[in-house]
Amino acid sequence: MGVPVKLAPSILSADFARLGEDVRAIDAAGADWIHVDVMDNHFVPNLTIGPMVVKALRPWSAKPFDVHLMVSPADALVEAFAEAGADLLSVHPEAGPHLHRTLARISALGKRAGVVLNPATPLSLVEPVLDMVDLVLVMSVNPGFGGQTFIDSALGRIERLRQMIDASGRAIELEVDGGIDSVTAPRVIAAGATVLVAGTASFRGGPASYAANLKALRGCGASRHG
Ligand code: DX5
Ligand code: ZN
Repeated sequence: MGVPVKLAPSILSADFARLGEDVRAIDAAGADWIHVDVMDNHFVPNLTIGPMVVKALRPWSAKPFDVHLMVSPADALVEAFAEAGADLLSVHPEAGPHLHRTLARISALGKRAGVVLNPATPLSLVEPVLDMVDLVLVMSVNPGFGGQTFIDSALGRIERLRQMIDASGRAIELEVDGGIDSVTAPRVIAAGATVLVAGTASFRGGPASYAANLKALRGCGASRHG
């Protein structure tokens, strides 16, 4: 038997005028985690969600909040998002000079810690901190916007990270983010991903479509073998 893949719908593609209702609806439709894209118009050219919004959304779902920090510097916000109700906090190595310290801070706050690798970021950057992360997030688009096209080179990167994680012997989630739909999902699952982020493909069509959207993402190849 394979390991069932987790789905983490990105609320970047939700209806921001009805965000609480949309979080509740995507939870009911079968989301495993709620993915929150935090952008600062500095690390990435877009501006989205702050800790106050996460705090306001917290009562709308009991599922883990998977907070993807695209901010620089990240350290001060790590604490704010932890207090607001984040369960997982992921940072980009380029966002600050002291990745080890930032990850240690996330763990000290009792939260699961992740490292995010952009399409051009060497995988080797994660090696020195593999013993302190709970999650590696592979970007399959350049961060900043939803609705972009999947970058194929992410597949080989997922495969190599799968080997690194398996060799570590630690239970580290391997998440992929960007351009995930019913076509790319089986490919990243086959490469070794355990968590799929999807914005556009999760929220398209409005609440009546969410359950079918998530089912399509799980597909019939929703298990990873081996
Ligand atoms: C991009 C974000 C993604 C994005 C994914 O910077 O990290 O989470 O919302 O959007 P889709 O699934 O539409 O590519
Ligand atoms: Zn994201």
